[in-house]
Amino acid sequence: MENYSRRILNAAFFLAGIVRRNTIVIYERSPKGICFFIMCGIIAYAGTEDAAPILLEGLKRLEYRGYDSAGILTINGGSQFELKKDVGKVLEIHLKVNLLDLKGTIGIAHTRWATHGGVTRRNAHPHVSNNGKIAVIHNGIIENYKDLKAQLESEGFHFYSETDTEVVPNLIEYWMRIRGANFVQAALNSFQSLEGNFAIVVIDGDSKTMIGSKNGSPLVLGVGQDRNYFLASDIPAFLDRTKDVVYLYDGDTVVITQQETDRYEILDFRTGKKVERPVQSVSWDIEHAAKGEFDHFMLKEISEQVETIQRAASQDRQTIEEITARIRKARGVFLIGCGSSYHACLSASYLFSKLASFHINTVLASEFSAYEDFLKEDTLVIAVTQSGETIDVLDAIKTAKQKGCQIISIVNVMGSSATQFADASIFLNAGPEVSVLSTKTYTAQLAVLTLLAFSLAGKYDEGVRELKYLWNVVYNLTSQNMRTRLKQLADRLSTSEHIFVLGRGSLYATALEAALKVKEVSYIHAEAFAGGELKHGPISLIGKGTPVMVFVSKDTESKILSNAMEVKSRGGYLIGIGPSAIDAFDFFIKVPENEELNPISQIIPIQILAYQLAVILGHDPDRPRNLAKSVTVR
Ligand code: G6P
Repeated sequence: MENYSRRILNAAFFLAGIVRRNTIVIYERSPKGICFFIMCGIIAYAGTEDAAPILLEGLKRLEYRGYDSAGILTINGGSQFELKKDVGKVLEIHLKVNLLDLKGTIGIAHTRWATHGGVTRRNAHPHVSNNGKIAVIHNGIIENYKDLKAQLESEGFHFYSETDTEVVPNLIEYWMRIRGANFVQAALNSFQSLEGNFAIVVIDGDSKTMIGSKNGSPLVLGVGQDRNYFLASDIPAFLDRTKDVVYLYDGDTVVITQQETDRYEILDFRTGKKVERPVQSVSWDIEHAAKGEFDHFMLKEISEQVETIQRAASQDRQTIEEITARIRKARGVFLIGCGSSYHACLSASYLFSKLASFHINTVLASEFSAYEDFLKEDTLVIAVTQSGETIDVLDAIKTAKQKGCQIISIVNVMGSSATQFADASIFLNAGPEVSVLSTKTYTAQLAVLTLLAFSLAGKYDEGVRELKYLWNVVYNLTSQNMRTRLKQLADRLSTSEHIFVLGRGSLYATALEAALKVKEVSYIHAEAFAGGELKHGPISLIGKGTPVMVFVSKDTESKILSNAMEVKSRGGYLIGIGPSAIDAFDFFIKVPENEELNPISQIIPIQILAYQLAVILGHDPDRPRNLAKSVTVR
């Protein structure tokens, strides 16, 4: 499954055109945007049993894909829809409204990770058409929804939500009610006019027909015993019911009719022609399936960076430019965060300085109170936080707010507390991060901060281009070959008591993050130093065989390599990370030179190394001891 997704992604980029930069093949992004898997979970069922319990169970299993709101809609014994949806986690909603008393044996359900429109009940799925007869759940982004909405409004349709999704049921209603098409034809016509990525399941109350279609977002069909069918974003959603699945391809549109559930039909919505797909049996258990081919979420999330960095870099230009203007206008700018988020801030401070000649104060959120006296009404505080709930960050934000400062938050979780306090927010769009360790959200933070630095330097387009070119590098860095190679290094390091890490400039921040990754998941003591500090004490710790990692880039090369030689001459085991090897390296991890983007690319192999160390040492990489994903205590 993993290799399959990577192949598909690779093919998509290949087809989109090839550009060469240095010696690396770069795949140019298509003008319509890259096919990314925006999170959100969908599960639909048509069969002989009550739908609600099946859908509720499916939603719980899909919650790793999104958890800010959820809903279930069924067609009851007649042709009426029964709908319950709300903001919150699936179980919270169920406790509040009892999702199990929805009647009927056909239904659709959705757990949301907000992309278009805030976290509100109105924006939660399923969405229903104006005449109340067509209902839809959707995962992905419909890029041309504003045009479609305007066209539908001119036909008299009205909209209650801010979502892109709501155009879909209304488009289908338009084709049926105004243009006289039947449900299947109306759905095919509608899917043809959608631009962007989607996995959609739509149901028609009158004909009790369910249609699922995909284009760039995941959707699988489950084929159960006794005329029971499932459509879901991911197999675990129905794995307790059937292990027989049909993997769907882009364009595939499954039509299931309740009167005739002993058969289903797959059409290609682009041609209207019938396609045949084999039914395959999966041998996974549920836990395994949620992670796909990966043994742990940490490795899954590391591998997702090929998409998530691009997604983080695909920001709304106007938002970035407005925030850039606020940064320019402010008198005093603070970047604050905790843990990995703080390392992202520190890394960015070098970039702001080098690229945009802009001074920014980087402070640990837990230490922010020491700077209170410098906070004025024209001070800007940028809070970087994956969860948006870290108490130290929220305390710092509140302090700054009391002083009248402007607050910008850079967060992954929409609707989180940090976004509620902030005057403006930038979202990482990395999807839920399940492993306690920050991996994909760390590089997403770096991508957003890099974009801001380029924007501040008046080079927004260049920033977007540079980040886009990184795709191929990240793809190679997360490949199986790289993992196998890093496993050899992990075997060598797993018996070490101490590991030291050196970097200079922005790669000093990378060194700090690398040491954090290694220590928090392997429990091996790892410590980072700025290269220049080695001679001021740490060098006394270096003896024969002491492992020392050295991050090298073009602009720090001469100085950091002389630090490396100081280590080597004391018998240290040198691990070089950078564009080219030198003889003194005992182990070399090649990462092509990416200039301002080196902090994004160079951390990836060390994330993998940390993961491998945890596995070798028998620790759970997803749940390291004593650590929490979101730290809400002081
Ligand atoms: C915890 C997590 C870290 C994270 C830090 C800050 O310590 O284990 O991975 O970097 O909190 O979290 P935030 O959500 O504010 O980025």
